[in-house]
Order: sequence, then structure tokens, then C-alpha cells
Amino acid sequence: MKETMQKADLTWGELPFGYVQTDCHVVYTYRDGKWDAGEVVEGDQITLSVASTCLHYGQECFEGLKVYEDKDGRALAFRPQENATRMAYTARKLLMAPPPADIFVEGVERVVSANRRFIPPYGSGASLYVRPLLIGVTGTIGIKPSRDYKLVLLVTPVGPYFKTGLKPVKLWVEREVSRAAPLGVGDAKTGGNYAAGLRATWGARDRGYAEVLFVDAREGKYVDESGSSNFFAITRDGTYVTPKSPSILASITNKSLMEMAGDMGITVERRPVPVTELPSFAEAGLIGTATIIAPVYAIQDGDTVIEYGGPDDVGPVSAKLRESLLAVQTGDAPDKHGWMHEIKLD
Ligand SMILES: Cc1ncc(COP(=O)(O)O)c(C=O)c1O
Repeated sequence: MKETMQKADLTWGELPFGYVQTDCHVVYTYRDGKWDAGEVVEGDQITLSVASTCLHYGQECFEGLKVYEDKDGRALAFRPQENATRMAYTARKLLMAPPPADIFVEGVERVVSANRRFIPPYGSGASLYVRPLLIGVTGTIGIKPSRDYKLVLLVTPVGPYFKTGLKPVKLWVEREVSRAAPLGVGDAKTGGNYAAGLRATWGARDRGYAEVLFVDAREGKYVDESGSSNFFAITRDGTYVTPKSPSILASITNKSLMEMAGDMGITVERRPVPVTELPSFAEAGLIGTATIIAPVYAIQDGDTVIEYGGPDDVGPVSAKLRESLLAVQTGDAPDKHGWMHEIKLD
């Protein structure tokens, strides 16, 4: 074991996907056209101008990635460079200053290292979630881009995303609320998309569904994604199918699973997925950092219920893909694509 600092006193195996305050966060500031060296700040409070553009005009974006402890006590982050690239894409789309990838990755390393007692122990099933947040902090009342920005990185230990843990979930096809428009910002990881989808997701949760499946906002004919994850399915002949749409987030987990599926000899199709095709699939699932794959056992579209097995059935391809990626993330399987980024803890 390299890690000698005593772990935080938490019941690691029972953590929800929630927020536990850790010791500190890291803040980089962009001012006069350049990023500073960043600082580690104790606690979890930030001070802002009441007129900040992030508060009024949504100049805000974020990322999410996980760090696992491996059996030798090493801290492994999953593809932080990919999150850096996606944050830069979102930032440009919202006319914000994109943090350079080296600052982003250094920030991840600093915040994880400074909070290393919160990295859940190997084998606990929990992980350390890293949330990089970019906010426009110039005070203005006119609608215009900020001059100054803060890149704030925080961490929190997390357990499973859905209350059911790894049990398959049921989805509701949402036809009253659009999350994002084709020429909008649905492919950017910005808070407004989540605010737009919240009333749909919460309404569905109240009615017993884990999540909604949003359909394309123009025609309502094609599957987009859920409020928090991409969608994928396995056809009866074993093909991996996932929607191609301008209004969904480019999931890093999905990208990785597509590569892994290809390695396993599975055909991968990224293309528009008509809602009418849903009944033909053998397996379905939601994909994202929080869950890797959350298997879906039923999808309800109005009065029609499409089932992929019973509430306890996990499709064999979904199970294999999920286990394979998790094994790489936890250091139990060889990292042949070079996805894992070790964070030095001393
Ligand atoms: C709307 C949405 N789609 C998809 C994803 C999955 O993306 P990733 O695999 O990069 O976590 C997320 C989670 O980050 C998300 O919020």
C-alpha cells in the first residue's frame, strides 16, 4: 500500500450518489486573458459577484469523472483528458474561456491528492467522483460573455447512481418536455440542459420510473438520451446500437464501451434510433460515468410497455461490457487502451 493517510470515517459500501463534503477544493482563475497557477481552498464555499454571468445567463459548464483505488492503493482516474476536451468544447460553445487540458488534468490531480482520505477503499464498490466546474464570474447586467472565469474542482465519494443499485431500471418515454433542441446546446455539458429536463425526470420518478427517455425535439420520432445518460441497445443479432443525434452529450463511457465492444468482435452502430425500433431490441441500457451501464428492463411509451426481461434480468452483453470496463477502471484488468491516469498521492 502506498497510501498511508487514514481514510475518512465513512460507511463506504452504503454511500449514495450524493454529496459528502470533503476537506478542500481547487480553484483556478482566468483574468486579463490568462489562467493563474490555481490554489487549494479549504472547505466548500466560494464567493462571487451577485451579478456574475454564471448566475444570470447560464455561463456555466461542468464535467464528471471517477477515480478508483486499485488493489495496490493507487488512485486511477478514467480518461481525464477526454473530460478536458469536452469541457473546452462546451466552453467555446457558450463563449467561455476554455481551460487548457494541462490545467484541467493538473486540477484533477491536485483535488484528488489533497482529499485522498476520501478515496473509497478498493473493493468497496464506491469511487471518488470529481466534478470540475467552469463559471463566468464577471459582474454584468447586459447579456454578454464574462471576461473572468473560475475553474473550480471538487470531489465527493459516491456509491451507485440509482437507488436500486445495479438492478435494472424502468424508463418513461417523455413526450411533454424537450430537454434540448437540435441546434441548441444539448451536446454541451451545461446546467441549463439539466434544469430543462428536471421536471420531466422528477415527474417520472414520482410515478415509479428511474429516468425518462427524451426523444428528438423536432419530430418526436427518434431516441435521444435520458436526463443523465446516453442510451444503448443490443439487437437480437448482437449489434450494439446507440443514438446519433445533435442534441445529446458525447458520453465518454459510451465512446469507451463502443471501443470495447469492437474489441470483443461486436458490431457497433451509431445512428438515429427510431422509437418504433425499441420493441425489437434484446437488451437496453443507460450509459454514463455514474453507472457505466444501468440495464433497462422496461420502457413505457404512453400505454405501450416494452420489456427486455424481468426486473432482475441483466442482459448478457450488457453485463459483460459493464464488468469489462469496470475491471479496467478498478485496475483489475489490463488497460490496453491507456485510459487510466494514475494520480500520485505523495
Ligand atoms: C445528459 C448526459 N448524457 C450522457 C452522460 C454520460 O456521459 P459520460 O459517459 O461522459 O459520463 C451524462 C453524464 O455525464 C449526461 O449528463
